[in-house]
Amino acid sequence: MSKVHAAITAVHAYVPEYILTNKELEGMVETNDEWIVSRTGIKERRILKGNLGTSDMATHAVEGLIKKRGIKATEIDLIIFCTTTPDMVFPASANILAHKVGAVNAWGYDLNAACSGFLYGLATGSQFIESGKHQKVLVVGGDKMSSIINYKDRASCIIFGDGCGAVLLEPNTEGFGVIDSILKSDGSGGDYLCQKAGGSLRPASHETVDNDEHFLHQEGQAVFKFAVTNMADVAAEIMDRNNLTSKNVDWLVPHQANKRIIDATSNRCGIESDKVMINIEKYGNTTNGTIPLCLWEWESKLKKGDNLVLAAFGGGFTWGSLYLRWAY
Ligand code: UT7
Repeated sequence: MSKVHAAITAVHAYVPEYILTNKELEGMVETNDEWIVSRTGIKERRILKGNLGTSDMATHAVEGLIKKRGIKATEIDLIIFCTTTPDMVFPASANILAHKVGAVNAWGYDLNAACSGFLYGLATGSQFIESGKHQKVLVVGGDKMSSIINYKDRASCIIFGDGCGAVLLEPNTEGFGVIDSILKSDGSGGDYLCQKAGGSLRPASHETVDNDEHFLHQEGQAVFKFAVTNMADVAAEIMDRNNLTSKNVDWLVPHQANKRIIDATSNRCGIESDKVMINIEKYGNTTNGTIPLCLWEWESKLKKGDNLVLAAFGGGFTWGSLYLRWAY
């Protein structure tokens, strides 16, 4: 029997309605549209308003996906919810989501690898399909970054936004699906991009709140330096070992952290800009949401057999790349 690959058979996503523009940010911190666009490529980002969490965005994405694929929620075996902003520390947002969408036969867990989370999720979800253990695995990637952003910190509040996407993995024996992945981490970079308090090390206290330790902390330049080389290198590495060239790669799907990092990655791989999925100008950095949001927006342009190279870099540090042959 030919090898079983985990193919993406459906993709859907959700972004909140509220648009936070660079103009509006100009009234909140000392910044300007020209600086933000030239340093990051971002023009606007979405913000989830109201008493809602990441699982609420995921519910929209998954309900849309189930409808599109024409399946029942009860057929889903496993939900891997890749997020850095779960609704709460526990229970897992995967459990909350399963309940909300009626996936009563699924088990699930949250996966936190910051901006590389969706790649980690695709790689691990694929294992359950390849092994024959499961037939339908949902990999969800999304974040309500606005819940941990300090809108007084101009270096970080201009970058992040809210959004969520989901893909369904199913077995494929025609050679389509996840072909290869390279996943890496280096915990020595942890302090450069983190949320200092709210975990077991520094539980919430008056002091942690007064010190703004529940907000995302990013040392932008240090992260940039690591991101720009490692994301480009790992994308080139997966191309090399799968005999992919700039000619036979149909799409580069990069994590949307900064347009300059995306450009460095596409240049390193020799992939022309018209084959690079970029929507950072509309959504900013949605952390676990960026890659599924790209797949969702480009879905109608994708063709069966297209070669996709996915690449990401994020807090941890974590980074990786994945080679995918599109299945529909
Ligand atoms: O997705 C997970 C991984 N994260 C990333 O990959 C993010 C990586 N880092 C970055 O994308 C960039 O470092 C930032 C976009 C965060 C910052 O851009 P930068 O070009 O590295 O700026 P910088 O931090 O070196 O700051 C340059 C100047 C500073 O002023 P001085 O010290 O030169 O006077 C900053 O205070 O720009 C200033 N600055 C701003 N000015 C206007 C910082 N933020 C802003 C702002 N508006 N929003």
